[in-house]
Amino acid sequence: MQKRTILDIIEEKGKINVCAPMVRYSKLPFRELVRQYNCDVVYTPMILADVFKSSEFARETDFSTNERDDPVVIQFAASNGKDLADAAELASPYVSGIDINCGCPQKWAIHEKIGAHLMSQPETVRDMIRTVKGRLNIPCSIKIRVHPDLKETYEFVKRAESVGVEYITVHGRTKTQKNTEPANLDAIRFVKESASVPIIANGGVFSMADVEEIYSKTNVDGVMSARGLLRNPALFAGYENTPWECIESYVHMALGYGTNHFIFHHHLMYMMEDIMSNSERKTFNILSSIPAILDHLESDWGLDVSRLA
Ligand SMILES: Cc1cc2nc3c(=O)[nH]c(=O)nc-3n(C[C@H](O)[C@H](O)[C@H](O)COP(=O)(O)O)c2cc1C
Repeated sequence: MQKRTILDIIEEKGKINVCAPMVRYSKLPFRELVRQYNCDVVYTPMILADVFKSSEFARETDFSTNERDDPVVIQFAASNGKDLADAAELASPYVSGIDINCGCPQKWAIHEKIGAHLMSQPETVRDMIRTVKGRLNIPCSIKIRVHPDLKETYEFVKRAESVGVEYITVHGRTKTQKNTEPANLDAIRFVKESASVPIIANGGVFSMADVEEIYSKTNVDGVMSARGLLRNPALFAGYENTPWECIESYVHMALGYGTNHFIFHHHLMYMMEDIMSNSERKTFNILSSIPAILDHLESDWGLDVSRLA
């Protein structure tokens, strides 16, 4: 049976809350966590299409899923349509959509001709979308940044639309802008006004007030958050800070599904950022294994690990 797509969900709800693709972090336990708090759609981390298509090991480690992991969009980084479509074909039974990363600004990505490199290659992106759509009956979307000259963004969007891109996520920063700079909501509104497909806005969403501001200034169809959800996975449910039950829920799911020390530690550091004093943070920082973190959460924060494990 065909899974519900983002377009179905937009139609049903009007506006949607989306958890961004985040390398290392938007994995199965975190995806399940944010869904408990009003996230409508969740992305996997960016996965390299050429590696995914050729290695079963990579497929197992990069993308674990289950029947509750729905709707999930798998995000690929690819430099050509064949790699992308081969990878998309293998993933398609388990996902609601295939997204192409056109925004990763890291040097290694630009060197590999993926990510933000694609922002200057509208034809390559158009061919990639066309190849996926020619082979598979599954929504194909792109996550882009804006260009310094918005005429280029306009052309980019129009080319993608001409081959049937289903929707577009616009990160309102250029590829050289830092995440500390505010997202350009005027640029996002410009894209929304020029596009005929739904637009999801991304950049600088840390609270429901930010969500409201984006909707009122851009009229987009959905809002995507990355760092805001890392800090507070309950953001879209209206919580101003991470509620303690959310932390407990994360521990429960991370232990149940399995995780590594690095990711477990980082998620907890993000979620507890607002409730930890500097000295508590220093102590937490040096915990070097999952058992050490659990002991600490039990002794200093009253977590009942036996109930959650
Ligand atoms: C830890 C981390 C990992 C990220 N990984 C990805 C990724 O895999 N794919 C992607 O398109 N963007 C990735 N991004 C960018 C975010 O999806 C998002 O576009 C950016 O952080 C701006 O949103 P924000 O202001 O809500 O954080 C990542 C960002 C962070 C902080």
